[in-house]
Amino acid sequence: KKSTKKNAKEFDFIVVSNRLPVDRVRNADGKDDWRRSPGGLVTALGPVMAKSDGAWVGWHGAPGEKLDAFGHENMKLIPVELSAEEVELYYEGFANATLWPLYHDVIAPPEFHRTWWEAYRTVNKRFADAVAHSAAQGAIVWVQDYQLQLVPKYLREARPDLQIGFFNHIPFPPLEIYAQLPWRRALLEGLLGADLLGFQRPNDASNFLRCVRRYVNATVKQNQITIGERTVRAGAFPISIDTAQISALAATPEVQERAKQIRRDLGNPKTVLLGVDRLDYTKGIRHRLKAFSELLEEGRLNVGDVTLIQVASPSRERVESYRMLREEVEGTVGRINGTFDTIQHTAVRYLHHSYPLAEMVALYLAADVMLVTALRDGMNLVAKEYVATRANNDGALVLSEFTGAADQLRQALLINPHDIDGLKDSMMAAVEISASESARRMRLMRRQILDHDVERWSQEFLSSLRSKT
Ligand code: G6P
Repeated sequence: KKSTKKNAKEFDFIVVSNRLPVDRVRNADGKDDWRRSPGGLVTALGPVMAKSDGAWVGWHGAPGEKLDAFGHENMKLIPVELSAEEVELYYEGFANATLWPLYHDVIAPPEFHRTWWEAYRTVNKRFADAVAHSAAQGAIVWVQDYQLQLVPKYLREARPDLQIGFFNHIPFPPLEIYAQLPWRRALLEGLLGADLLGFQRPNDASNFLRCVRRYVNATVKQNQITIGERTVRAGAFPISIDTAQISALAATPEVQERAKQIRRDLGNPKTVLLGVDRLDYTKGIRHRLKAFSELLEEGRLNVGDVTLIQVASPSRERVESYRMLREEVEGTVGRINGTFDTIQHTAVRYLHHSYPLAEMVALYLAADVMLVTALRDGMNLVAKEYVATRANNDGALVLSEFTGAADQLRQALLINPHDIDGLKDSMMAAVEISASESARRMRLMRRQILDHDVERWSQEFLSSLRSKT
C-alpha cells in the first residue's frame, strides 16, 4: 500500500462512483484488509481504471472511517467518508430502497422518505466537493450510477471548467413509473449538470428524454436537450467486460484444472447448471428455482444427472427486502434439496459467498448451462463473462429478455422469466442442445463481445464527451 504522490487539483481524469473497487474489511486476525467490491460497475470499470492514470473517487465500504488517498493495484483511489447514519439513510435508504426498486420496474415497492432524500443531497454534495478538490483545470469527470445523480449539477456549480459525463448502470424507468418520485424534477436537474448522459439501452435513454420533456423547462430535440445556454446530450452506450482478461484466465491450466475438480467434487453429473448473482430480487432467482424444482418433480431432470450451482453473493444485507429475499431463497433451496437430494448427490449447491475472479471463471468453465433469469437488469455482465470463457464454443446461455445484455447476445436462448413453462422448456433445450447448435450460437456471441469490450465502451463514451456532438 503506497500513497499517491499527486497533490490536490492535479487529476485530468476522474471517475466517481458510490463504491471504490475495493472494500475495507477486517480479517479474522483483526487486521484491516481490502476485498474486491461486489457488482457489475466495479467489474466493468476496474480494468478501465487500471489502464488509466486518472483517479477514482468513492466510498470504501466501511461506515464512519476517514481514510487518505491511496494507491491500489495501479489505481489511485480517493475515499469519501460516510457516517453510519448516512449509510442507513443515503445508501440503504434512498439509493437502495427508493431508487433501486423504482428504477427496476417496482419489483419491490419503493419507499419515499424525506429524511432519506435530505441525506442523499448531503452525500451527493460531499462527493461533488471531493471531485472539485482533486480535478485539474478543464479535467474530465465521469460520474457513475444512480447513487450520484445530483453530482453533475453540484459539480458544475463548483467547477464550470470541467467536462462532465454521467453513466447510469441500471435501467432508467418509464415516465409512468418515474412519475411516482416526489423529487422527480430535482433529480433530473441534477443529471442535467452533465454534458453527456449515457444509458445502457436506447430504451433507457428515451425514457429519460421523455421525463425531461415532461418535468424540466428545456427543449428536447432527438438526443439533444437545450436548457438556457447549455446543451446536454443523452444516448445509449451498452457496457461490457474485459473480454481478453476473462478469456486469458479461462485458458490457464490452473483454472481449467479447478473447473474439472468442481465437477468431480459434485460427483461428475452429466450436466451442471449455474446461476451467479448478487442476492437481489431483480435477478429472478426464485423463478429459476421454481422452474428447476418443477423439472425435477416431473422427472424431466434427475438429481445425479444434473446439479444446479447457485452462487448468491451477499448484498445490501440490512435492507428489509433483501433480508426477506434471503429467507425465501434459502427456504426454497432447503425444500428442494430436502425433497430431491440423495446421500450422494445434491439438487442445488447453494453458496452465499462471493469469490475471487479466478474461481468465478472456473465455475463458468465447469457449467454446461448458464442461467440468467433477471426480471430487470441494466446490462448483466455475468452473461457476457460466461460467453467470454467458452473458447471451445460449447455451453448454452439461457438469458432473460429483460436484461440489457439480451440486446447484444441475440443468439442466447432468450426467455421471459415470468413464463415458468417457457423457462422450463428453454432450460431443457439448453440441457439437450446439440454440439453443433451450441457452437453456432456461441461463435456469434463470442464475436460480439470480443469486438465490444469494456475498453471500447469507455473510449466511445469519452470520445463522444470530448467531441461535443
Ligand atoms: C449494481 C449497481 C452498482 C453497485 C453494485 C453493487 O451493479 O449498478 O452501482 O455498486 O450493484 O451493489 P452495492 O450496493 O453493494 O454497491
